[in-house]
Amino acid sequence: MGFSAGILGTGACLPEKVMTNFDLEKLVDTSNEWIVERTGIRERRIADPETATSDMCLKAARAALKDAGVKAEELDLIIVATATPDYMFPSTACIVQDKLGAAHAGAFDLAAGCSGFVYGFSVASQMIASGLYQKVLVIGAETLSRIMDWTDRNTCVLFGDGAGAAVVGRVEDGYGVLALELGSKGSGAMELYQPAGGSRRPATHETVDGHGHFIHMNGKEVYKFAARIMPATCKRVLAKAGLTIGDVDMLFPHQANQRIIDNAVKHLKIDPAKVWVNIDKYGNTSAACIPICLTEAQREGRLHKGDNVLVVAFGTGLTWGSMLLKWAK
Ligand code: ACO
Repeated sequence: MGFSAGILGTGACLPEKVMTNFDLEKLVDTSNEWIVERTGIRERRIADPETATSDMCLKAARAALKDAGVKAEELDLIIVATATPDYMFPSTACIVQDKLGAAHAGAFDLAAGCSGFVYGFSVASQMIASGLYQKVLVIGAETLSRIMDWTDRNTCVLFGDGAGAAVVGRVEDGYGVLALELGSKGSGAMELYQPAGGSRRPATHETVDGHGHFIHMNGKEVYKFAARIMPATCKRVLAKAGLTIGDVDMLFPHQANQRIIDNAVKHLKIDPAKVWVNIDKYGNTSAACIPICLTEAQREGRLHKGDNVLVVAFGTGLTWGSMLLKWAK
């Protein structure tokens, strides 16, 4: 019998501290009403000062390994998708590899913003489909609160912290990944970026004073891009698999803005009951969004073996990624 690559187990970690829109009203000139109406977000989780991205990765990873019935020593590779690593180097994946005791795993970080989990899964699934590796851990994790400008109402209301993980491995032929697409539009690189701290503008007193180490975003441009790309990439990936939207049992869209999700639902003509939404509780957790959603849906019994699962994300880069899986668990 042949094999394919699919998800063997999922796990998530969300910090306990809840920050509501009412808490934000005390920080910037905003209102619960504006945030709910324009974004759908009601609250988000914020990591405590001692917690870094690798700490949340570890918790999500342990939960995913347990769910998959896989031991850390069995892992061949660990991929951490993040824009908020513990350090510029070494990779957060190496810190996770050590703490997890994944003695036989390679490890690297992947930078594709909110599309990071889909990018990471695509690498993992190809490593497995080629026969090179058997078990790969893919984590999406962010401590975005550390790079948030808490004086900028245009961005600080949108994001939250968290981590999600999936163990990717061999599944029965016909299950797992059916089709996927990765895309990029680097001409939009400056629409969503962290201006300072890299080789172009290393840290100086000036960059710190000028808020250069925080998220800078042209919300309108990112919105337009997302509204266009999400339905388009979903349609292409469905066509590649020879399926239609009617065949999809569950859609997991990136959780950036409820209006962006609604727009995709309208253009795809999918039943909203089949669309996973948790933006109200967690805001945009970037690369962590998709694996957190998958974990929630699985734990709530909303995913069944044989379901056609469509996943779509977009993010800084600009990047996008979509994939269609036949759920194998
Ligand atoms: N509270 C109150 N008013 C606000 C706030 C706020 N938090 N933020 C902006 N406003 C104001 C603006 O200043 C503006 O006021 P003005 O007309 O006096 O200038 C007004 O509200 C309207 O602003 P818009 O930018 O037009 O608001 P819009 O409806 O476009 O919503 C938003 C802004 C939510 C940022 C939207 O554009 C969006 O969601 N964009 C996509 C962002 C996104 O997806 N980012 C994540 C990408 S993925 C990744 O890799 C992280």
